[in-house]
Amino acid sequence: MKSAIYPGTFDPMTYGHLDIIKRAANIFDEVVVSVLDNKEKTPLFSVDERVNILKEATKELPNVKIESFGGLLSDYCKEKNIYVVVRGLRAVTDFEYELQMSQMNRKLSDNKLDTVYFNTSLKYSYLSSSSVKQIAQFGGDLTDFVPEFVALKLYSLYGQNK
Ligand code: PNS
Repeated sequence: MKSAIYPGTFDPMTYGHLDIIKRAANIFDEVVVSVLDNKEKTPLFSVDERVNILKEATKELPNVKIESFGGLLSDYCKEKNIYVVVRGLRAVTDFEYELQMSQMNRKLSDNKLDTVYFNTSLKYSYLSSSSVKQIAQFGGDLTDFVPEFVALKLYSLYGQNK
């Protein structure tokens, strides 16, 4: 069975992430989407909330599992015995960071870990969790960016009456 891990912050998951998850799930037998529990960052949503959002959004995808992890991605991959990492590339500006991360993960895993990139679908190429949060803060329309239940959570967190 060929498995892959799709790690990320997912604060919150957007349709761009969901698109990558679906496409990866068409290629791999199993995709483990894993939310980073990063003590250095202060995300809007807790790890549990981010995990629950992903679980709800992927409930129709039988080969997708949602988890969380802390520490190094390479250690987590070793623990799970999965050595393929999935990441999305929106634009060339993402590439430098992604390449560096991929090389570092490979080094940290004794050359076992490979990163597979999916070009983000054009319609989501401008989309990010940060921009979604900004739009929510000012009560903007999130219809094309996140599922409705996520939009409602965002509006409520930002005190928007929607
Ligand atoms: O959604 P993001 O914020 O772009 O995801 C970044 C993520 C979670 C994939 C990355 O920060 C990560 O893997 N962090 C774990 C720490 C780690 O392994 N660092 C070493 C590789 S540079």
